[in-house]
Amino acid sequence: MCNQLAQQGFNICIVSRNEAKIKEKLAEINAKHPDVQTKCVAADLGKLTTIAQYKALVAEHLNDIDIGYLALNAGIGISKIFDKADDSVVEDVMVLNGLHVVYLAKALLPQMLKRETRSAIVITSSVASYLPLVGGSVYSATKALERLFGVSLHYETRHKIDVLVYTPGYVNTKLLDDGKGKRTESALRCEPEDGVRAMHKDLVRGRPTSCGSIKHSLTMMLVNSSIVQYFLLNASPKKQADEKKRESEESSIKEPLIN
Ligand SMILES: NC(=O)c1ccc[n+]([C@@H]2O[C@H](COP(=O)([O-])OP(=O)(O)OC[C@H]3O[C@@H](n4cnc5c(N)ncnc54)[C@H](OP(=O)(O)O)[C@@H]3O)[C@@H](O)[C@H]2O)c1
Repeated sequence: MCNQLAQQGFNICIVSRNEAKIKEKLAEINAKHPDVQTKCVAADLGKLTTIAQYKALVAEHLNDIDIGYLALNAGIGISKIFDKADDSVVEDVMVLNGLHVVYLAKALLPQMLKRETRSAIVITSSVASYLPLVGGSVYSATKALERLFGVSLHYETRHKIDVLVYTPGYVNTKLLDDGKGKRTESALRCEPEDGVRAMHKDLVRGRPTSCGSIKHSLTMMLVNSSIVQYFLLNASPKKQADEKKRESEESSIKEPLIN
C-alpha cells in the first residue's frame, strides 16, 4: 500500500509497534522513491484503549502532518475455538482490531475535515466480516465492526472524504502464518500489491467497499452462498476434526471426576 502511494507522490508516515521494522520499510520506500519524505511513529496500538490516548498520540506525532490518505490497517488474527482461546489473545484482538480503527479515526477526523482538498480513508476489514467463523468468532466480529463503522463513515463524510472499507479474502502476508512457518494455502490467495491496486480503483470510483482482486470477488460470492456457509459451519473437515478433538478432551476431563 505504502509503495503504491509513494509511487503516486504521497509522503509516507507509518505508525506501528516495531520501530526497527518501520525504519526498514521506510528505507525500502526511499530507495525506490527518493523524493518521498518519510516519518516513523512507533506506538503499540494494542495498548491504547481510550480516545484520549489516541488524541495524545496524534497531538505528539501527527498534528503537523497534512493527511491526504489514512490507512487504518493494523490487525491481528485468532484461530481458536472461543472457549479454548487464551483470555489475553481475545483481549488483544478486541483492542487492536475493534478499537484502533474507530478511535484513531475519531482522533484524526477533525484535521482531515479541515483540509481544503478531498482526502481518503481506507479501513482494512476482511471478507470474514461477512462470515460467522468457527474458530474465528472474535476475528470476524471485529472485522464486521470495522466494516459497518467504515460504511457508515463513508456516508457521513462523503462531502469531504472518500472512505472505503477493504474486505479482502486470503492475502499472502504473515497474518496467514501458523506460527510454525506454514502459511494457509488457497487457490484464492492473492499478493498484497495486486489486491491493493484493485482496491484503489474502487476508491477512485467512490465505492464504500471493495474486496479488491477478482479472486476475492469470487471468494465473496462463495462466502455469500448458504451452501458454502452451511459447509463451513457444520461439515468442513476442519470443523469435524475440531469437534472430535474437543469431545476427546472433554471426555478425558470427565473421567477422573466420575471416578
Ligand atoms: N492476510 C490476509 O489474508 C488478510 C485477509 C483479510 C484481511 N486482512 C487484514 O489486513 C490487515 C493487515 O494484515 P496483514 O495481512 O498485512 O498482516 P500482517 O503482515 O501481520 O500486518 C499486520 C500489521 O499490523 C501491525 N500490528 C499488529 N499489532 C499491532 C499493534 N499492537 N500496534 C501497532 N501495529 C500492530 C503489524 O505490525 P508488526 O509487523 O510489528 O507485527 C503489521 O504491520 C489486518 O487488519 C488484517 O485483519 C488480512
